[in-house]
Amino acid sequence: MDSAIFTNTHLHITTWVIGIILFFVAVSLIKGGNEKGSKIVQMILRLFYLLILFSGIMLFIKFHEINDMLYGMKMLFGIIVIGLMEMVLARAKKGKSTGMFFTIFVIVFLIVLYLGFKLPIGLGFFA
Ligand code: HEM
Repeated sequence: MDSAIFTNTHLHITTWVIGIILFFVAVSLIKGGNEKGSKIVQMILRLFYLLILFSGIMLFIKFHEINDMLYGMKMLFGIIVIGLMEMVLARAKKGKSTGMFFTIFVIVFLIVLYLGFKLPIGLGFFA
């Protein structure tokens, strides 16, 4: 699968940007007490997790030999970001505090952005 859609970062960026937006929409719907709306948005968000993972794994398979360790970390932290979004949503649903997990989410998200933009494919703000 050497198609450009899998070997440039456009698809991957599109999927995680939409994913992050859906995450914030879901959090605000839960906090606003809109159970039905938040369920629907969370379903779409879970589909986007798969698309983020799929597009990320395709890039990983193609390019990881450039720097196995950094690409490995990028994948690991990317998966952790998805896990943290689920943690925040699960806790918000139960009415538990979300502050700590949200803070960790922001930190790990920034690490993932840094690693993504440092690695050589696509945009290289920190290269
Ligand atoms: C919400 C989670 C994620 C965010 C915010 C994110 C963010 C990014 C960003 C900003 C880039 C750089 C794009 C560019 O330079 O044009 C990138 C590239 C990449 N991502 Fe992700 N990503 C996430 C999840 C994942 C996952 C789960 C994987 C692996 C399974 C993954 C693997 C990759 C790979 C291999 C690249 C190419 C790195 C390069 O050489 O530039 N990402 N990602």
